Amino acid sequence: MSKVVVVDHPLVQHKLTMMRDKEAGAKDFRELLSEISMFLAYEVTKDLPVEDYVVETPICETTSKVIAGRKLAIVPVLRAGLGMVDGFLTLVPAAKVGHIGLYRDPETLQPVEYYCKLPPDIDDRDVVVLDPMLATGGSASAAIDFIKQHGAKHIKLMNLIAAPEGIERVQKDHPDVTIYVAAIDEKLNEHGYIVPGLGDAGDRLFGTK
Ligand code: PRP
Ligand code: URA
Repeated sequence: MSKVVVVDHPLVQHKLTMMRDKEAGAKDFRELLSEISMFLAYEVTKDLPVEDYVVETPICETTSKVIAGRKLAIVPVLRAGLGMVDGFLTLVPAAKVGHIGLYRDPETLQPVEYYCKLPPDIDDRDVVVLDPMLATGGSASAAIDFIKQHGAKHIKLMNLIAAPEGIERVQKDHPDVTIYVAAIDEKLNEHGYIVPGLGDAGDRLFGTK
């Protein structure tokens, strides 16, 4: 079964509370999501391998550590996943960025794919899928399926808020994928929204409602 890592640093909890507030505008919402994404990215990259590197300090020569050349790709799920890209790239500027466009059909709640562009060497990279909301888990599971079809073998999922239903779905469909999340909320409502959640992440991020 896939592991779930809850990143509940006090600053993350504080910023997430600000995001949940229905009075928060798009500017604040965007900035807070970007900031929390840095904390999540810190955890996601915690197991990157390091290797020795000889460096000359102003005092003497020493052997220190650098990242051991493992290649990373991040894949935001459009639209809301875009809000996590800048924060991640602030920590890992060399990561390549793919995009998967999915929206949830409001009636069936099934994910509908409308765009996909992945780095050509995705099969050779560690991949992190970015999406703030893990609700039914349909979108995340479909995105991961798609990335696996392109040959990627090491995939992680980075979410802001997850519902227990979404975690269960990803664990069932993709037991090899570790989930990183800032909070696990109570449940889904009858429209498939996370309760208490923060509403529609894409709309709040881009001011489309
Ligand atoms: C949201 C969110 C996820 C999906 C989660 O996207 O960003 O991709 O819903 O729901 P699920 O776990 O039940 O699949 P949405 O379909 O609203 O598209 P948008 O980001 O373009 O607004
Ligand atoms: N998508 C969102 O943006 N919010 C939810 O609560 C569920 C799916």
